Amino acid sequence: MLYCSRRVALLCDPHLMKNMQKIQKILTNPDFKAYVKANKAAEKKRKYCKHNLAHFLDVARIGYITILETGFKIDKEILYAAALLHDIGRFRQYEDGTPHEWASAQLCRPILRDAGFSEAEVNAIAEAILVHRDSATKKRKDLCGVLFNADKLSRNCTSCKMNEKCDWEHKNAEFTT
Ligand SMILES: [Fe+2]
Ligand SMILES: [Fe+2]
Repeated sequence: MLYCSRRVALLCDPHLMKNMQKIQKILTNPDFKAYVKANKAAEKKRKYCKHNLAHFLDVARIGYITILETGFKIDKEILYAAALLHDIGRFRQYEDGTPHEWASAQLCRPILRDAGFSEAEVNAIAEAILVHRDSATKKRKDLCGVLFNADKLSRNCTSCKMNEKCDWEHKNAEFTT
């Protein structure tokens, strides 16, 4: 009973809720929802990893664990925003070949501004999205590096039925996080 009431108290904590209001705005943004839907339609028959809301949230949560474990000074809401939007333009890659990091780095900007992020924050998030497939990003100890690594760690390669056919360069050979 004590546990339950503490949980409720935590969920109702206005400080915690306030800190994620911009994320709520992203999740309810009509363009964001339309892009998630477009990705889903484009990947309907895809057998490999999908670029859906579950993946976005996995990346956000693994990235946040990384921040907690490393002590990197990265704002939680900025990390979540980058994770939620990093693959949002994947459907464009299927449509016309535009690399999805380019498409996502463009499509994220109005969504971030509508959510209330400053122009400096929008630029930082867009940069992290733009380099999230660039291996040179791996060793960075900033938002870019955290997003890059969380994205790769999020893929559950060891229990994936497509593991043997998949030639993804960042495939996880063993369980990591
Ligand atoms: Fe991606
Ligand atoms: Fe991703």
